[in-house]
Amino acid sequence: MKTLVTNSIPKASSFIKKGELSAFPTETVYGLGANAYDENAVKKIFKAKGRPADNPLIVHISSKKDIALLATEIPVVAKKIIKKFFPGPITLILKKNEIISDLVTSGLDTIAIRMPSSKIALRFIKVCGVPIAAPSGNLSGSPSPTSFIHVLVDFKGKIPCVLIGPKAKYGLESTVVDCTGKVPAVLRPGVITLEQLKKIDKRIKFLKKSTLIKSPGQKYKHYSPRAKVRLISDFGFPISDFKNTAYIGMKKSRINFGIYKICKDLNDYAKSLFSFFRECDAKKIKTIYCEKVPEKGIGLAIMNRLKKAVSS
Ligand code: TXA
Ligand code: MG
Repeated sequence: MKTLVTNSIPKASSFIKKGELSAFPTETVYGLGANAYDENAVKKIFKAKGRPADNPLIVHISSKKDIALLATEIPVVAKKIIKKFFPGPITLILKKNEIISDLVTSGLDTIAIRMPSSKIALRFIKVCGVPIAAPSGNLSGSPSPTSFIHVLVDFKGKIPCVLIGPKAKYGLESTVVDCTGKVPAVLRPGVITLEQLKKIDKRIKFLKKSTLIKSPGQKYKHYSPRAKVRLISDFGFPISDFKNTAYIGMKKSRINFGIYKICKDLNDYAKSLFSFFRECDAKKIKTIYCEKVPEKGIGLAIMNRLKKAVSS
């Protein structure tokens, strides 16, 4: 299959309109989109990614008004989050309207809804004229794509279109908040932090264990480079092979790593992590040392991704 790489929103949306896939940029990571109302198109997402059918997709919208089409109930806490953070790097789990196929939501009675803040993403969804079901635009199990080049590495020749945009502003996937339970819960931490959400409703919690049950995606191997990932607090450890090792973190070191990335701050760390993992794989790095950070603010999201990369 030929993959069209384009910066034309009308061209990319023409693929969606005819039931095909197109990757597109967002402020978090690139997505792999299909018409959320078209079951055949949605099936192509699962096939292209090699994604298990029990891992539901996020439905992307370009207007807050569309939430009422997709969800049956919008609890008070969801209304407050929408008011403060939509459009933005956050996804809400709400009770699903029947208009959306069980294929999209993997048979759950809930739906994940996100309105990205990326101008290109918003225009793309609007021109498509339908809600866009989209997971991150990577092969299942590999790190999420933060540039269109990463999408091409995984999908060149396998999907018909990639809409070009800038590098992802945040570089980590959206914060996922389940608003359907008694107590609202963060299922996946992201750049909109638990602390920010607690200002809206102090009951909101990050329930690590419930994450496994509530958000099916969280149980799968994720975010993982081929290299081994090790978490470190300092450099007081022996390294036998410098050439095949890499380091990402905020601390400077005199160790002569094969490649390294010293991040300015936590935001830079979050933004750089996945592309660094991909760079390490391309350079056949064997071990990646990653600096541990405190699990607060955006540090909670960074550590969530790092721990998954270690355990896979
Ligand atoms: O930033 C993002 O969220 C990106 C961009 C493209 O929007 N998308 C993304 O999609 O990261 P994906 O499929 O890689 O991750 C979606 C997560 C998965 O962990 C999935 O299990 C969870 O959201 N999810 C989707 N629908 C759900 C539902 N109804 N209930 C609970 N979790 C759900
Ligand atoms: Mg993903």
